[in-house]
Amino acid sequence: MKNTPPLKIMFIASEAAPYAKSGGLGDVVGALPLFLQKMKLDVRIALPNYSGVSEKAEKLSGKKVEQLNIVPSVEMGINGTSRFGVLRTCLPDSTVPVYLIDHQYYFNRKGLYGEIPDAEYGDNGERFLFFSKSVFSLCKEINFQPDIIHAHDWHTGPVAMFLNHYRTYDSFFKSTKSLFTIHNMQYQGNFPAETFSLTGLGNHSFSEQNGEHFGSFNFLKSGIRNASRVNTVSEGYAREICTPQFGYGLDRELLLRGNTFSGIRNGIDSQEWDPEHDKLIPFNFDSANLAGKANNKTALQKKFNLPVDPKIPLFGIVTRLAEQKGIDVLASALPEMLKWEMQFVLLGTGESWAEKYFPVLADRMPEKCSVKIGYDEPTAHLIEAGCDFYIMPSRFEPCGLNQMYSLRYGTVPIVRATGGLDDSVENFNEAQGTGTGFKFTDLTKDALINTVGWALYTWYNAFEEYSAMQKRGMALDNSWPNSAAKYLQLYRAALEDV
Ligand code: ADP
Ligand code: GLC
Repeated sequence: MKNTPPLKIMFIASEAAPYAKSGGLGDVVGALPLFLQKMKLDVRIALPNYSGVSEKAEKLSGKKVEQLNIVPSVEMGINGTSRFGVLRTCLPDSTVPVYLIDHQYYFNRKGLYGEIPDAEYGDNGERFLFFSKSVFSLCKEINFQPDIIHAHDWHTGPVAMFLNHYRTYDSFFKSTKSLFTIHNMQYQGNFPAETFSLTGLGNHSFSEQNGEHFGSFNFLKSGIRNASRVNTVSEGYAREICTPQFGYGLDRELLLRGNTFSGIRNGIDSQEWDPEHDKLIPFNFDSANLAGKANNKTALQKKFNLPVDPKIPLFGIVTRLAEQKGIDVLASALPEMLKWEMQFVLLGTGESWAEKYFPVLADRMPEKCSVKIGYDEPTAHLIEAGCDFYIMPSRFEPCGLNQMYSLRYGTVPIVRATGGLDDSVENFNEAQGTGTGFKFTDLTKDALINTVGWALYTWYNAFEEYSAMQKRGMALDNSWPNSAAKYLQLYRAALEDV
């Protein structure tokens, strides 16, 4: 049999766990390539060399990151030529290459997108335009001729536009196709028209096709218009963002893509998030033996200074404190919810009102509620492992990973029926003995309170139903291989396009 060469895929993204992560984008870019490689694809990742990334890579691999002996450059329109360096490492315990785009001025800063989680650097348009363009000189310098460039979210929206431009005259990219994955429609990278002059494509090219949107340069629109294929991270969200309610002004753009736009639900990294082997939690466990889970609950109650009591149901959330996550609704519902016999823990960072509100509430009700403002992975794992219920009242949710981590850790999710939450959690049906969590539809304080009340009722009056639901959740397989196979199909479909 003739050996066909492996498909060559270049990922380009602004986050990849464990090096740089502010949310689920990092989890996905740090995991999906591992599974594509298992399917024999030659997959590589381009990531900005943010401050601290190379040190982290060295610590994880126990080796020095390799400084490549190349000096690629990018034409930044009126700003002229920008040279950069490239460092090379591999995703932990793998041979998936990660190329760190090393530009001191753009990336050696305190934050990924701003100094604090809620702020943006004033030159983010320029920074990510540079990054989007850098992938082309990178590919040429390392002589990697990709079949597909797989770009993620607004930061790399312009990649497909540049590709379509280069393809017209540069034979190196003649057969390269692109996939643009939207992880969130709300963040579009909308910059003043002047930013377009940095593309080097000439102001005459500033058209809707290239991302012009009501006079601004919209990176997301540029990706949607130009990529060979576009997808988002669940089927439910793919349907929702074709409507004005969820499309943030770009729903029509997606409708116009017809069947070249689709949804593929994220998987979870079942090695990183595995209650049986998780190194970040004090007690490992599985569905056949939940004693470890009970010990984690005690550890969590102690860590959060709550009364240690196995019988009180413990609810938790780990989240960006952002409007998307419905934290305003949670904030208004909590004082009433907490009148019941329950405990609640929160870990998060984000909007400044929320960073103040939740700790004040915890101070008022220290027996029931405890909050940590910060970004802390071991605590995130302990919350997944030690809680009895996980709350996710999202206003919208492209996929959501925490509800899937919760299912795996026997922590019954309570979710709003939207996007990926609706797709991944099946509502409890006591009569039929089915379901993996509790769902509500209206994003109101009352709907959330009633659903938490329903969960509490089940815990106190039908504990065997709760336990059965917990086991059904733990038995689900939400790991990456299924979804990775769908990405492979999508790459193949893109390559067949003329
Ligand atoms: P989003 O990407 O919209 O924030 P996801 O559910 O897809 O939502 O992914 C969030 C990821 O970020 C999860 O891995 C979650 O555990 C992690 N995370 C969010 N906030 C924190 C935090 N404060 N500390 C540790 N991990 C966090
Ligand atoms: C985004 C979405 C989240 C999704 C993640 C990974 O940050 O908000 O729902 O799970 O991307 O795709």
